[in-house]
Amino acid sequence: MKKGPYPFFGRILPMPTVLVTCKLPSSVLAKLESAAVVDLYAGEPPMPPTELRARLADTDALVCLLIDAINRTVIDAGQKLKIVANIAVGYNNIDLAHARSRGVVVTNTPDVLTESVANFTWAMILAMTRRLPEGERLVRRGQWRGWALDFMLGSELRGKQLGLVGWGRIARAVAARAPAFGMRIAYTSRREADVPTVRRSAHADAVERASGSPEPKALGVGPQRRKEVGPHEHWKRISLDQLLSTSDVVSLHVPLTPETRHLIDKRALARMKRSAYLVNTARGPVVDEAALAWALQQHLIAGAALDVYENEPAIHPDLLKLESVLLAPHLGSATTETRTAMADLAVENVLAVLAGKPPLTPVTA
Ligand code: GLV
Repeated sequence: MKKGPYPFFGRILPMPTVLVTCKLPSSVLAKLESAAVVDLYAGEPPMPPTELRARLADTDALVCLLIDAINRTVIDAGQKLKIVANIAVGYNNIDLAHARSRGVVVTNTPDVLTESVANFTWAMILAMTRRLPEGERLVRRGQWRGWALDFMLGSELRGKQLGLVGWGRIARAVAARAPAFGMRIAYTSRREADVPTVRRSAHADAVERASGSPEPKALGVGPQRRKEVGPHEHWKRISLDQLLSTSDVVSLHVPLTPETRHLIDKRALARMKRSAYLVNTARGPVVDEAALAWALQQHLIAGAALDVYENEPAIHPDLLKLESVLLAPHLGSATTETRTAMADLAVENVLAVLAGKPPLTPVTA
């Protein structure tokens, strides 16, 4: 922790204070410490709510995680609070309306994680349709009896439809990779004006800087993708019902809101093809886990790949018993480069607001 005054238009002001609810990469922490007194929670996350409220009392800014519940009482505990900087693109953990009413800026970390989550979504699709986790479990159990023509057959992707629920940055980046696997894209979008386009994310540069090298140029999603392309002939916008009943892989890319909670329920799952797979790298409660376990048990769908859960880190016990479900521990954006860029963007937002400037990536919804 560093204390000390800092100059502001010739005047000497006390350093602002920032509560950070997790350990940060050292370069990012150093940047924050150069302009603020940092109160770092070094325990096991999430920070206990009572401690969070107590330590917010005299704090100007909060850097937090998606596992920190920034509700009304927490926001009220921060009487001097100017900004809540979430190290995540999703912000369903924050009471946005209450923050607004108290004049507290809320920021998230869009763009910097787009490519990473899109790559991870494809890793899930490939692993699930080629039965990779199931095969690995079998090998480890010592039950592999050798190559056989009909052993553990998966499904091809070529010529099939990938249905993207939501058409934000991540969905578009997933769509951009589809031609490499010969899949056509169908998507849902709430916005009438949404046409199929791909745009390189502004903050992908930050990830490149963190990794020290440009992103691969393959798949048309590298740095050369500076301007919008499309509309794409193989992408079509359809209703959710149509998407569910015609897609071979359904991948979820919507934020968690009252409208999207349990969007994928029994009824939605029953609409899907028996040969179809469900992928969730968005937010757990978008899927009714009990309904999903039922649909898999009844073979109403072929399989599911989940990175997020209704009550993380708990997982519905029935899902844990099923071979046809791939279970990842919320790793969508988990690369060193991306997580560094996310932490850096959160800190940049804090520094901007504390300096009286507009935040870089305010939550505007
Ligand atoms: C991760 O889940 C995020 O919202 O950034």
